[in-house]
Amino acid sequence: MDNLKSPENEISGLPSLLIRDAHIWTENRAIRGSILIEDGRIQRIARRIAEQADEEILAERLVALPGLVDAHVHLRDMRLAYKEDFTSGTSAAAAGGFTTVLDMPNTLPPTDSAQRLREKARRASRNILVNTGFHAAAVGDRAAVETMKMAGAFSIKLYLPKPIAPLDLGDDLTIVEVLKAAKEASLPVTVHAEDAAQIEPTREIRTFKELVGSRLGKAETMAVSRILRLQKQIGCRIHFCHVTLPSSISSIGNWPLGGLSSEVTPHHTLLSEDSVEKLGWKAWMVPPLRPRRARSRLFREMATGNATIIATDHAPHTIKEKRRPPQKSPPGIPGLETAMPLMLTMVYKRKLSLGRLVSLLSTNPAKIFGLSSRGSIREGVDGDMILVDMKKKGKIDPDKFFSKAHYSPFEGWKTQGAVHTTIVNGSVVYSNGEITGKPGSGKVLRNGSRG
Ligand code: NCD
Ligand code: ZN
Repeated sequence: MDNLKSPENEISGLPSLLIRDAHIWTENRAIRGSILIEDGRIQRIARRIAEQADEEILAERLVALPGLVDAHVHLRDMRLAYKEDFTSGTSAAAAGGFTTVLDMPNTLPPTDSAQRLREKARRASRNILVNTGFHAAAVGDRAAVETMKMAGAFSIKLYLPKPIAPLDLGDDLTIVEVLKAAKEASLPVTVHAEDAAQIEPTREIRTFKELVGSRLGKAETMAVSRILRLQKQIGCRIHFCHVTLPSSISSIGNWPLGGLSSEVTPHHTLLSEDSVEKLGWKAWMVPPLRPRRARSRLFREMATGNATIIATDHAPHTIKEKRRPPQKSPPGIPGLETAMPLMLTMVYKRKLSLGRLVSLLSTNPAKIFGLSSRGSIREGVDGDMILVDMKKKGKIDPDKFFSKAHYSPFEGWKTQGAVHTTIVNGSVVYSNGEITGKPGSGKVLRNGSRG
């Protein structure tokens, strides 16, 4: 019989992929070798692989890194699809080197019940190009938290400035209930740590600079210490989203009880509030950008390994919405397509090591969100990988984004180092500037399943 495919290949229908002669980042160093991916998994890593595969990539000048994991993105879709949808958002992820993203629940409708989570997952499954999981909104009802966990939620998101589902957060008791429910369901709580009472503008706001000035670091300091105090009582796992102050990183890092992790973003570590003055709405997000000194110290905390992960907080809006007067302009910037070229540039400038970059953008987020088969290149794990060209020079150009949000405070920045190829579950979804994956080729991930 003229049958070239192995029986396993016939069953899964997945073509095999051989990456030849790459510099492979594994066990915290680069080795020269080839990688064979079969049935969506890394089958073999060796200096030389003689076998043929359905597809081959000669990667002599490229570095193979584990696929990046972005634990904080807003893919929008549904009634906010005009800002971003599952296909445009995950195309942006693929172009940025992210093979897995975790989507935030502040959508329309919000992800605040198991049923809504399942509906979102169903819609995503037909439209995503990279692996996608979902965070769920904090709700008052413990049983609902448990059922959202059963539906696959990766965390319970507690949005202190303005809860996603109605909750009275003026009261510690409500937060205690949320933390207890998460603990019982063995889920981490992801916290947007800004104290609501501290961010009420008390005067008339005319400019973005004044708007940022009304949202001080004190709001974060108070929220972090409040959550730490309550964590001490309950002992649940807490992940602090987009922390902006070096002092928050140390409070979280020095916490003796464990169970905590911290996240920083490329924008808070690379930009200061000076950018708000220059760029206005393009540099408006929450938490806002901070003074220069805090920014450089935050970068150092990240580069020395005191922050646990980098996430983009990819938060797309239309330019028309962003251009409204400051208090009506929605906060948020797209970040999926800028994070990696910006951070590779930091590696090129020797301000960040490649090993740290891999931990912050892949290994650590995979670990803290239970993605045990992702975040490293080794035999037997899922075939999520990127090939990076460390020499490639570029310039941040929002017109070229696959995201619907064609703006960025990094517009015009010169970069060195770029994502060349993105491989998700063994299939090439992005290569050399082009999206090659099909909507629906990414997997919906459920917390607790192997993925
Ligand atoms: C986020 C968004 O647009 O969803 N914006 C942002 O600036 N980070 C929501 C939010 O966290 O407020
Ligand atoms: Zn966010």
